[in-house]
Amino acid sequence: MYSFELKGKVAVVTGGAGGIGVVICQRLAEAGATVVVADLNEDVGCGTAEKITAGGGKALFLPLDVTDSGSVQAVFEKVEAEFGGVDINVNCAGVTRRMDTLEFDEKAFRWIMDVNVTGVFLCAQAAARSMVKRGGGKIVNIASVGGLVGLKGSLGYSCSKGAVVQMIRTMALDLAQYHINVNGVAPALNRTAIAAPVINDPETYQSFMDKIPLKRLCEPMDVACAIQFLCSSAADFITGQILPVDGGWTVE
Ligand SMILES: NC(=O)c1ccc[n+]([C@@H]2O[C@H](COP(=O)([O-])OP(=O)(O)OC[C@H]3O[C@@H](n4cnc5c(N)ncnc54)[C@H](O)[C@@H]3O)[C@@H](O)[C@H]2O)c1
Repeated sequence: MYSFELKGKVAVVTGGAGGIGVVICQRLAEAGATVVVADLNEDVGCGTAEKITAGGGKALFLPLDVTDSGSVQAVFEKVEAEFGGVDINVNCAGVTRRMDTLEFDEKAFRWIMDVNVTGVFLCAQAAARSMVKRGGGKIVNIASVGGLVGLKGSLGYSCSKGAVVQMIRTMALDLAQYHINVNGVAPALNRTAIAAPVINDPETYQSFMDKIPLKRLCEPMDVACAIQFLCSSAADFITGQILPVDGGWTVE
C-alpha cells in the first residue's frame, strides 16, 4: 500500500531538539508515527515531546550523545523495550565551525567529524540492527548542499557531509537485503542555530542567497516534508539517494 502516512511506525530522530529536528519530530508525529526525540539538549527535547503529546500525538524524549556508543546503545535498547523496535531513524544531529582552510583548527575538525560522521554511523547501525529484527525500515540522514558542492569556509562541515552522502550509498547497498531503505536530504540554508554565523554575516549570507534560484531560505518544514516522504511507503522503491532541498542551488 502506497501512502505518505506513518501510522503505527516508531521513529527515532537524533538532533530532535534542533531548529530543523523539532519540525521533523512534529511532522512525523502528525503523520501518525510515535516519535522518540533524542538529543543532548534535554530542555528543548522534553518540551518538544510534551508539545507533541499535548497535541494528541505520541512522543518521548531520550537523552542522547551521538558520539558515545554507550549512549546510542542505551537509546535503542530503551526504544526496543518500550515500543518493540524502530521502523524509522532520522539522523539530524549536527555541528559546524566556520574557518578557512589555512586556519582550520584540528580539534574542531575532529569534533565535527565525530558528531556528523561517527554519530550518524553509530545511530544508523544501531537502528539497522533493530530494523533487521522488524523485517525492514527507513533510515534518512541529513546531509547538506555542503556534501554535494564545496562550501567556502566550511572545510570540516563539507567533508563530514560528503562522508554522510557516501555512507548513505554504501549502507543502502549493504542493507537492501533486509528491506531497509537508506536515503538522505541535502538542505540549503535554514535560519537555525547552526547557520547563525552565515545568517548574521551580511556578505556571507548574500553569497549563499546568490546561489539559490528560488531566492529564499530553506524552511525546516521544507526539509521535514521531504523526510516524511522518504520515511513513508510512497518511497519504498527509493534507496541510496540524496534529495536536495535546496531551491535549485546544486542544479547549476
Ligand atoms: N540549518 C541549516 O542551514 C542546515 C543546512 C543543511 C543541513 N543542515 C543539517 O541539518 C541538521 C540539523 O541542523 P539544525 O539546523 O537543526 O541545527 P541546530 O543547531 O538547530 O540543531 C542541531 C541539534 O543537534 C544536537 N546535537 C549536537 N551535537 C549532538 C550530539 N553529540 N548528540 C546529540 N545531539 C547533538 C544539538 O543539541 C541540536 O539540538 C544538521 O545535521 C545540519 O548539519 C542544516
